[in-house]
Amino acid sequence: MTQLSAAPKQPAEGALKATDSSKALYGGKITRRITVRDITAAKERGEKWPMLTAYDAMTASVFDEAGIPVMLVGDSAGNCHLGYETTVPVTMDEMTMLSAAVVRGTSRALIVGDLPFGSYQEGPVQALRSATRLVKEAGVGAVKLEGGERSHRQIELLVESGIPVMAHIGLTPQSVNAMGYRVQGRGEEAAQQLLRDAKAVQDAGAFAVVLELVPAELAAEVTRTLHIPTVGIGAGPETDAQVLVWTDMLGLTGGKMPKFVKQYADLRRVMGDAAKAFAEDVVGGTFPLEEHSVR
Ligand code: KIV
Repeated sequence: MTQLSAAPKQPAEGALKATDSSKALYGGKITRRITVRDITAAKERGEKWPMLTAYDAMTASVFDEAGIPVMLVGDSAGNCHLGYETTVPVTMDEMTMLSAAVVRGTSRALIVGDLPFGSYQEGPVQALRSATRLVKEAGVGAVKLEGGERSHRQIELLVESGIPVMAHIGLTPQSVNAMGYRVQGRGEEAAQQLLRDAKAVQDAGAFAVVLELVPAELAAEVTRTLHIPTVGIGAGPETDAQVLVWTDMLGLTGGKMPKFVKQYADLRRVMGDAAKAFAEDVVGGTFPLEEHSVR
C-alpha cells in the first residue's frame, strides 16, 4: 500500500479557470511532448503549473503518467540520488546519464537538464558545449543554469544557438561555499539585486526562472514584473509555477526538511517496512512459498 495522503483538494477557483482549458499544462488535453512554447502560453493564460525533479526513468514515468508537465533533472541529484553532500561535485557525465534516463522514461513532460557546477562558469562557449551535450546525448528539451546578471552572456549564447534556458536565481546551491543556504533578497539592496537578476535573465532570453528561497512578497513582485514564468521553491504562493525535489515531496529524503517542503507521502517508512517484511519472510522461511516457485 502506498502512503499517499488524502485525495488532492479541489483547486482554488482561479486555478480551476486555468486548468479546465484543453491547453492547460496540467489537466489539459496535450498528449505530445510539452515544449517551451506551451510554457510561455501558460503564463499568458495566467495558469499555474507544477514541476518536480526526477533522476531516473522509472520515477519519471510515474510523474509523467500523473500528468506532471515539466521535470527537472536537477543537480540536486548530487544530494538526493548520488550520495554527495552538496551539488558541487556533480559532473557533466552524471547529469548526461541521469537526464537521458529521465527522457527515456517519459513521453509528455518537458525535460529540463541542469548544468552542473563548473560546466558553464568559464563562459558562454563552455556553457554551449555543455548544454549541447545534454540536448544531443540526453535529449532534454531545455537546460537550467544558476545565476542572474553573472550568467546573462551564457544564456544569450545558448538561446541564440537554439537551446531554451531556464534560469535560477535567489539561493543558488552551487554557490553554497560562498553564500551558504540562506534566504536571499532580504533588505532593500538585496531585493533590488534580485529584481535586476530577474530582468537580466529575461532580457538574455530565458524562457522561465526559478526563484529559490526568497521572501514571498519579493517573489510576487518579480512574478508581476516579468513576462516569463517564475518557478518558486521556498518563494511563497504567487509564483507562476512551483517545484519540489521529489525525494523531499514523497518523504524519501531522511532528516529535517526545510519549512517550504510539503511532504505528500512517507516513502522512507513504506520502503523500510517492506524491506523488513521481506527480510523476516526470508529468515522465517515464509518466502518464497509454493506460489512463488517453479516446478
Ligand atoms: O537541482 C535542483 O533540484 C534545483 C531545484 C531545487 C530548483 O535546482
